[in-house]
Amino acid sequence: MRITCTVNGRPQVADSVWAGESLLYVLRERLGLPGSKNACEQGECGSCSVYLDGTLVCACLVLGGQADGREIVTVEGLSNGDSLHPVQQAFVEAGAVQCGFCTPGLVVATHDLLRRVPRPSDAQIREALAGNICRCTGYAKIIDAVHLAAGRMGAA
Ligand code: FES
Ligand code: FES
Repeated sequence: MRITCTVNGRPQVADSVWAGESLLYVLRERLGLPGSKNACEQGECGSCSVYLDGTLVCACLVLGGQADGREIVTVEGLSNGDSLHPVQQAFVEAGAVQCGFCTPGLVVATHDLLRRVPRPSDAQIREALAGNICRCTGYAKIIDAVHLAAGRMGAA
């Protein structure tokens, strides 16, 4: 099947998409957007988090065919050219990135949290990011990064 969608503001077409293929596969393997990571492929880790029509989803749980006619934003779409989004910058500066496998999903999930709750508490951060598993950092620096981003975005 052919899929026509908008990804990070650009019209995209993917041909010969198999009916059982995930949106994550389409993004990474057909559209050349490897930012979203495949760490579990079963909705358990959040590494593949993207926006689908403005809603945070696990791209590994969405069929490619379901993206037809819809708008997707990936971690690549949050930056402005070479300028990192404040959430991305905060993760770097807070040392919230080690292997980096979880980071794209955490960045998108944090972006989603901060547009709903501009100054979240630790408990709100933990709840919002509960679906994003990090095997490296122990989460303390991730929470630091969210507070850092929130402070900067609130000051902007
Ligand atoms: S790869 Fe999608 S939730 Fe883990
Ligand atoms: S930095 Fe390695 S899984 Fe989070």
